Amino acid sequence: MVDARAVIRELQEMREDGHLSDALLRYAARTLYRIDERFDWVGVYMLDDEGAELRLHNYFGAPTEHALIPVGRGVCGTAVAHGANQNVPDVTQFEGYLSCNPGVKSELVVLIRAGNRIYGQFDIDSHRPAAFQDRDEVAIQMIADKLAEQIARERR
Ligand code: SME
Repeated sequence: MVDARAVIRELQEMREDGHLSDALLRYAARTLYRIDERFDWVGVYMLDDEGAELRLHNYFGAPTEHALIPVGRGVCGTAVAHGANQNVPDVTQFEGYLSCNPGVKSELVVLIRAGNRIYGQFDIDSHRPAAFQDRDEVAIQMIADKLAEQIARERR
């Protein structure tokens, strides 16, 4: 189970030490990957300036061919197109699913955003079916919101 408060405290300390969002995003992905054995792949995708394409920023787990994902494609691109997190209990039932690895059974995408402005997302894959619960989404959203604070500050 993700202890979002502990991760957020770490992220805040990093900010106070002067680390920028790039380092915070890497730290957060690594921590989520290590923290929970259901999370078999954890990546961060960032949205390009045109809002057209997601670009893989960093990841932990098996290599993926999906370095670039157009908005509207796959689970990741659907999250941006609909402005909504995606909790997919069975990836075989998701139309247009982009497979990275045949072992993946379920997937959670949580947006990194400030209001209507979407900066990117966490993408988490699990080899277990229906691995993600609402409380996972809530915890990861809290971490994503903390990251969005720093990204917003840098882009002002
Ligand atoms: N499955 C994702 C693609 C990214 S990989 O999981 C790393 C999707 O359908 O968008």
